[in-house]
Amino acid sequence: MSEEIKKFKITIDGQTTEVLPGTSILEAARQIGGKSVPPAMCYYKPLETSGGRCRTCLVEVSKGSDADSRPMPKLVASCRTGVMDGMEVKNLTSEKAQEGRKAVTEFLLINHPLDCPVCDQAGECHLQDLGYEHGVEGTRTEFERRTFEPEDIGPNIKLHMNRCILCARCVLAANQLTEEREHGILFRGEHAEISTYLNKALDNDFIGNVIDVCPVGALTDRTSRFASRVWFTKPVNATCKCEKCSGKAVLWMKGDEIIRVTARKDQYDEIVDWICNECRWERKDIKLWDIEGPRHIDRHSVISLNHYEKPKNMVSLLDNPDAKELSPADEIESEEKTDNNFKLM
Ligand code: SF4
Ligand code: FES
Repeated sequence: MSEEIKKFKITIDGQTTEVLPGTSILEAARQIGGKSVPPAMCYYKPLETSGGRCRTCLVEVSKGSDADSRPMPKLVASCRTGVMDGMEVKNLTSEKAQEGRKAVTEFLLINHPLDCPVCDQAGECHLQDLGYEHGVEGTRTEFERRTFEPEDIGPNIKLHMNRCILCARCVLAANQLTEEREHGILFRGEHAEISTYLNKALDNDFIGNVIDVCPVGALTDRTSRFASRVWFTKPVNATCKCEKCSGKAVLWMKGDEIIRVTARKDQYDEIVDWICNECRWERKDIKLWDIEGPRHIDRHSVISLNHYEKPKNMVSLLDNPDAKELSPADEIESEEKTDNNFKLM
């Protein structure tokens, strides 16, 4: 008979859950869901050894464990810190963690150009979202920003090194999906950069996935550059018969035209099924796909603009437990009342 593994209890922002030993605080937070989940710019569950590089997932551990209730002296990276039994963590409820995240955002933006108006990642960029939530209005640093010699990494992928935040996701994805070393991080500290070293093209059946794992606009799809702002395109789930991959993808449509093809992602923007280059770049004809239907947009971002859908349960979105969803008749009544109030004034 297999021995039952004792689960660890963890409380995050006052909500308690139980997880298996070895689970990170970030994964435990994802189990709880909602606003207590810290943002993650470098951690990517499908990629082994990801995380620990960006520090956007900082949280405050206010109680170490039941065995040792002392708080941890510094903010910790939740993606790389394991849960202990009885641990208590503060994310949204911690002023220190919010201040820390603000500082990390400022740090990440020191060299990152604010070129969102011309960047294809705008609307899907995690740094853009982080900037909106934690960014400061002005800069406190006056010095020349990092610049790089442009490197050509092939006909399908565009590298903008000055936008890179060195999260290493693309390197881990390439290492995990391809047999040969495709590219890596060269040099150290301020001089570190993503490079193929010999200016060669990234070329492998699954290499296109590096575009999808990049949290910013450092790696973008050359075949759809400047074709449309992402919020003007309509994403649909589609499948095709593919021998190399699952053939499950998202087609980003502009009218009847397929602007680009990407892998499907979950609510944390992590790829569910890696897709091959053929599906991504050689099947831009709608006749080659079976359309499943419009894609649900999970992200709270500018990308969800123009993609209206009614939340399944509006009542659950409200704090008031007695609140009920308005019927069309209620709305008319409420409008009439408002009009009458104006008439009385
Ligand atoms: S290119 Fe993108 S995925 Fe690769 S390290 Fe830079 S930010 Fe991360
Ligand atoms: S997501 Fe945890 S350090 Fe980057």
